[in-house]
Amino acid sequence: MRNASFIAPGGIPRVGRMSAVFAPTPARSAASGRLEIRPLNAPLGAEVLGLDLSRPLADDDFQRIHRAHLDHHVLVFRDLQITPQQQIDFSRRFGPLQIHVLRQFQLAGHPEILVVSNIKENGQPIGLGDAGHYWHSDLSYKELPSLGSMLHAQELPSEGGDTLFANQHLAWERLPEALKERVAGLRAEHHYLAKYAELQQRNPWRPNLTPEQIAEVKPVVHPVVRTHPETGRKALFVSEHFTTRIVGLPEDESRALLDELFKLTTLPELIYRHVWQPHDMVFWDNRSVTHLAAGCPDHLRRRLNRTTIEGTAPF
Ligand code: SIN
Repeated sequence: MRNASFIAPGGIPRVGRMSAVFAPTPARSAASGRLEIRPLNAPLGAEVLGLDLSRPLADDDFQRIHRAHLDHHVLVFRDLQITPQQQIDFSRRFGPLQIHVLRQFQLAGHPEILVVSNIKENGQPIGLGDAGHYWHSDLSYKELPSLGSMLHAQELPSEGGDTLFANQHLAWERLPEALKERVAGLRAEHHYLAKYAELQQRNPWRPNLTPEQIAEVKPVVHPVVRTHPETGRKALFVSEHFTTRIVGLPEDESRALLDELFKLTTLPELIYRHVWQPHDMVFWDNRSVTHLAAGCPDHLRRRLNRTTIEGTAPF
C-alpha cells in the first residue's frame, strides 16, 4: 500500500484531537498518583494516565503496564513530562535498547534515542523525518527485531503528524482459511535497504550509507506468521517497508502474495490512528502491530524521541 506524504484522516477514526500548540501543562491529570489504564475505542490500544517516572516505578505498576502492553499492543501515556534519560531508563525495564544504524540522527549525548523529526537546522536534518513513511515493524530487518518502541512527543505540528497502528493478530485471525494454510509455513526476507533508494529520491537529505552501515543491515529471513513469545498469539509479520520476498517462491508469485498480504495487514478495521497530544509517549509492541507515519505538511515542525527495545528471534 502506498501512502502519500500526508494522509487525510478519512476512513480511520481520530481519537482525542487536542490543540496543536505544544506547551508545558502546569498540572497533572486527575489520575495523579494512581495509574489508570483505559482501553481505547479502537481495534487496539489503551490510554495510561498517571505514570510518574520522576520516582522509582513500583513493581506492581510495572507489571500492570507490562500486562496492558501485551493485552492492548499500543499504550498511550498521557502528559508524560520526562527527560530523555527517564525515557531510556523506563524503556530498559523491558529489555536492552537497540541503536539505529543511522547514527547521524541520535540525540546528542543519548545514542539510545533516535530523533524522528522533519526539522532542519542550518540546512541539515536533525532527525529521521521519514522513519515511518511505509508500513513497518521496527527493525524487522535484524536477526533480533524490536520488542517494542517508545515515541515521546517533543514538538508537534498544528496539522497532521498522526501515527497509524495496525493489529497484526487480528490481521492473521481474519485471513481466509485457504490463505492461512498457504502462508502458515512460509518465510520471508526483510531488508533495511529495500526502500532506501526510493526514500532518498523523495528526500535527498537521507545520507548515503557507509560500507560499515551496509554490512550492519544484511538481509534476514523471518517467518511470515510469528508467534508472540509472551502471549502465544499468532500475528502476520510482513511489511511494505522491509519485506522483500517470500523465500522459495518464484518472483512474480512472491510479489503477488506480498501485495495481497500488505493489503490485508492494513485494512481500516485493524487500525488505530493516534492523534498526538503534547507530552504523549506511545509504546507499541512490534511483535503485534505494524505502524505508519501519516506525514505532515513540510513547513510544520515535528520532533519526537524514539527508543527501541530489542526482542527475540521470531518463531
Ligand atoms: C517510526 O516509524 O518509528 C516513526 C513513526 C512516526 O513518525 O510517527
